[in-house]
This record gives sequence, C-alpha cells and structure tokens, in this order.
Amino acid sequence: MNEGPLSIAVPKGRILKALAPLFSRAGLDVGPLVADDRRLVRDDAAGRLRYVFLKPDDVPTYVEYGAVDLGIAGRDTLLEKKADLYTPLDLGIGRCRLAVAGPRGKRAPDVPRVATKYPRVTAEFFAKKGIQAEVIPVSGSVELAPLVGLSDLIVDVVETGKTLEENDLEVIETVAEVSTMLIANRAAYKLRAAEIRPLCEAIGKAVAESA
Ligand code: PRP
Ligand code: MG
Repeated sequence: MNEGPLSIAVPKGRILKALAPLFSRAGLDVGPLVADDRRLVRDDAAGRLRYVFLKPDDVPTYVEYGAVDLGIAGRDTLLEKKADLYTPLDLGIGRCRLAVAGPRGKRAPDVPRVATKYPRVTAEFFAKKGIQAEVIPVSGSVELAPLVGLSDLIVDVVETGKTLEENDLEVIETVAEVSTMLIANRAAYKLRAAEIRPLCEAIGKAVAESA
C-alpha cells in the first residue's frame, strides 16, 4: 500500500461532473478523470495519483479494506455502509438530503412499508421513532414503489425535488443532510500522511474558495 501512486476511488456517474472542476482548482491533473474511456484504473501524468473508477456504493468497501487509499463517497452511502474509515474532508458538492416521502396528502398506515436503497439507515430511523416499519429494499427508481403499491413510503435522496414532484410524492421528513466526502483508509492515512496531508490541504482550499 505504501508504494506507487496514491490511489483514489471515484464514483462513476453524476458526481464526477462536480468533482473534476474541484480537483482541477486544487491543482490535480484531472485529464484521466474526465477522459471518455472504459479503463477502470487511470494514472495522472506525473504518476502520483491513480484514479480507480467504481460504482458509488462500492467506494467505502474498497477504501475500508485498503485496496484503495482514498475515496469519494456521499454521506448517504457512508451512513448505510458504516465502514470503518477516516473522513478528512467535506467536499461541499453533491448536496442533497435523505428523506422520507410519500404520496401527496396521504397519511401512511401505523406500520408502513418503506421502499429504499438505504435499508439500514431506514430501519434505524424508524426504530428510533418507535415506528415498526417494514423495510423493502430496492435498488433504484425508488419513487415508483408507492405509485404501484409496493410500499406506502420511500426513503431516498432528494436533490431538486423534481422526481418527487413529477410523481405526485412529497417529503414528509428529513432523515439526513448529504454531501460528498473525501474518505481515507485509516492505515493509509497514517502511512502515507506525507502525500495525503498536502493533497487534503489543496482540496480543502479549493472547497473553501468555492463555498
Ligand atoms: C436520484 C435519487 C432520486 C433523484 C433525486 O435518482 O434516487 O430519485 O435522483 O433528484 P431530484 O430531487 O433532483 O429529482 P437517480 O436519477 O440517480 O436514479 P436511481 O434512483 O434510479 O439510481
Ligand atoms: Mg432515483
């Protein structure tokens, strides 16, 4: 883990669009980050930073096990995975919230069925409120569940609220505020501090400038 370029797990998908300009302002070579190709491992020109492309949900896993030194992950994913990680920096991008939502104007039953991509967070949230919810795990298009009778409620990410709006759903309660975090493997953070610290500082500055 202590040799070769410092590796960073980046989530494939929409967060890359916000991440690239931020990393660029931090002085990183983002060429490999924005390149339109299918390679899953891409080194920067200087050979100091290695980008590893993953599904967002898998980022904490790779970093926790030390297969990758650093990673980019949403607080939503981190809450759900509960991986043992270090989270040195809030990147201030990917801002949204995890929320309970349901059909507009309709009261949920006392024991609601709740569809979600976040079964653990959802179970804990309802348990804390003393509500005995039945959690139904789904992996996407969560807003569909109440429309076709799979569930009474959903717990999902709400960004603009457009998806809820267009499906006649409304937010009932916020579960957690979400933003994108820089995460680090605990051992790597110590062993490669000489490389990770300045990187965090540069990214932290870029975050502060754009706040
Ligand atoms: C995400 C999320 C919500 C929507 C929120 O879904 O799960 O459905 O975006 O954004 P909004 O409030 O701006 O409408 P995504 O498009 O990533 O698809 P998926 O849930 O099927 O993975
Ligand atoms: Mg969705």
